[in-house]
Amino acid sequence: MSEDTTTAAESNGDALENLLTENRQFPPSADFAANAVVKAGEYEAANADRAAFWGKQARELLSWTKDFTKTLDWSNPPFATWFDDGELNASYNALDRHVEAGNGDRVAIYFEGEPGDTRTYTYAQLTEEVKKATNAFEALGVSRGDRVAVYLPMIPEAVITLLACARIGAIHSVVFGGFSAEALRSRIDDAEAKLVVTADGTFRRGKPSSLKPAVDEALTAPGHTVEHVVVVKRNGEDVNWVEGRDLWWDDTVSTASTEHTAVGHPAEHPLFILYTSGTTGKPKGILHTTGGYLTQTAYTHKAVFDLHPETDVFWCTADVGWVTGHSYVTYAPLVNGATQVIYEGTPDSPHQGRFWEIVEKYKVSILYTAPTAIRTFMKWGEDIPAKYDLSSIRVLGSVGEPINPEAWMWYRRVIGADKAPVVDTWWQTETGAIMIAPLPGVTSAKPGSAQTPLPGIAVDVVDELGASVPDGHGGYLVIREPWPAMLRGIWGDNERYKSTYWARFDDMYFAGDGAKKDADGDVWLLGRVDDVMNVSGHRLSTTEIESALVSHPSVAEAAVVGAADETTGQAVVAFVILRGSAVDDPDIVTTLRNHVGHEIGPIAKPKTILVVPELPKTRSGKIMRRLLKDIAEGREAGDSSTLADNTVMNQISDSLKA
Ligand code: PRX
Repeated sequence: MSEDTTTAAESNGDALENLLTENRQFPPSADFAANAVVKAGEYEAANADRAAFWGKQARELLSWTKDFTKTLDWSNPPFATWFDDGELNASYNALDRHVEAGNGDRVAIYFEGEPGDTRTYTYAQLTEEVKKATNAFEALGVSRGDRVAVYLPMIPEAVITLLACARIGAIHSVVFGGFSAEALRSRIDDAEAKLVVTADGTFRRGKPSSLKPAVDEALTAPGHTVEHVVVVKRNGEDVNWVEGRDLWWDDTVSTASTEHTAVGHPAEHPLFILYTSGTTGKPKGILHTTGGYLTQTAYTHKAVFDLHPETDVFWCTADVGWVTGHSYVTYAPLVNGATQVIYEGTPDSPHQGRFWEIVEKYKVSILYTAPTAIRTFMKWGEDIPAKYDLSSIRVLGSVGEPINPEAWMWYRRVIGADKAPVVDTWWQTETGAIMIAPLPGVTSAKPGSAQTPLPGIAVDVVDELGASVPDGHGGYLVIREPWPAMLRGIWGDNERYKSTYWARFDDMYFAGDGAKKDADGDVWLLGRVDDVMNVSGHRLSTTEIESALVSHPSVAEAAVVGAADETTGQAVVAFVILRGSAVDDPDIVTTLRNHVGHEIGPIAKPKTILVVPELPKTRSGKIMRRLLKDIAEGREAGDSSTLADNTVMNQISDSLKA
């Protein structure tokens, strides 16, 4: 923990004082509570014997080709196994079994493309498509344990690809389409992927936007492990072609056989790797396995959204490039046999009512989106959603960052007709599934709070020394007991897994978030206490962006902070010291923004780059980001007494005034 970390928790505490003046509560209506999937008694039973509770869920929610005799094995912490001797196939659980149960005609996916094209897949059709993709990938030599990199837009082929990998037991590693060729290359290399599945591109705000060129660039370096690239034709743009390596989806998958029998894989067989930003430069390959992950994603999807699969239409707006698009688009909705909407584009294209048009068209009953989107809708005005029939909505979910009470209230009133419960869900790439959230038929909801650890989940807030804080106090969010969907490690780096998550406090998982318990013991999330930023719900590392900046020859030193931003939660602000004649280059800021775009991806481009003569450092040479954050947020810089040179802050403010 650095000096900065402590103060981050303190300043989060200030934010909490404002939050805690928030004391409105919204209990579920009698009607909602009476028909809810999960009732109040669930907590007591689950928390009395967590392992038994999860064992029961695993058997009720999933079909196993071989039943398990063990639930949790925690004899070698922090390495857990769940349902270790059981076997199952994730793809069979998401597809075939629904068809076998007579639900083949139920719609699995309503797809809405950015240009307005649509496709509908029933469970029977989706099962066939996945079987074809499985056969095609197997014919290309992909087998159990191989890694497949996926760089696709939000189109049904993304879900089909992931489920085909899972069927084979190949480990998928999705790279968000907003990451650059460089970022893609490092992820392909780290996972040693054998196959890449991509598209020519996608559409963004009515225009084609490319993906395949980034794959080509990522594969220019010799020595990579990729044998084939399968390319979905989506936007019809011309692409470069490497004969022998590249194959069109239409020539390989579309022509493959629709017959494929799924075999069971061990419960602890890896399902996927998903890279996420941490406090050091290199992204971490978070590893998830099969049985526990599917159990908790399926359970939470049912419990937190009160899912009635026969009647609900679920829409999670997350991209498959993030964990939410894995757990609550690809896996849980399909494992639960639900009908869901998948949308390729942005909320403002071709007009600012696009989301509400989609809700009306498909009669979406459960909407799951991010606070940054909600705040954007607030800015656009409530007359826009008012033009559409949103009466199908009955549950509203929020994820990705703290939701401020104003946004929560607006969401409930304007989108939820003042009656749909709002569930704020806290979790992480690492937790795999939702950990803290109200239960819509049970909890009296508080605007802005995720409130309650789910049944079977042991969350706490602790002080610097790891002692549980009393109600009304703040500290660090920890998880005290292993949970089924927990990460099983960092791909290829067990030591980093231990030191990142399990070393800060004895025997507890350190989440990296600050939190406070209110007088009732409900949990309020307060943002990260480490060097991770949250920009529009996207997780970015300050150090990763700093490394990208200093890799440019014009930059001598760089410091990056996440500054509070009304819409995006945080915005990336960079302070740079330039080298030599770069100081006189009028285009340097644009050059550096583009450089970050090239190194990491457009999502990481700093909103603001400030050229400064010095950076504030402690005597041990650590940059005091807290002081830079004060400047970036337009405040007077706070206590700078621990600086090695306390004239630095004046030098910086003078240079910014100039
Ligand atoms: O800081 C927390 C924030 O997002 C981080 C996890 O980011 P990622 O792994 O990208 O997963 C995002 C989607 C699950 C957390 O450490 N976060 C996520 N949900 C919430 C949240 N902060 C406050 N409230 C939430 N509901």
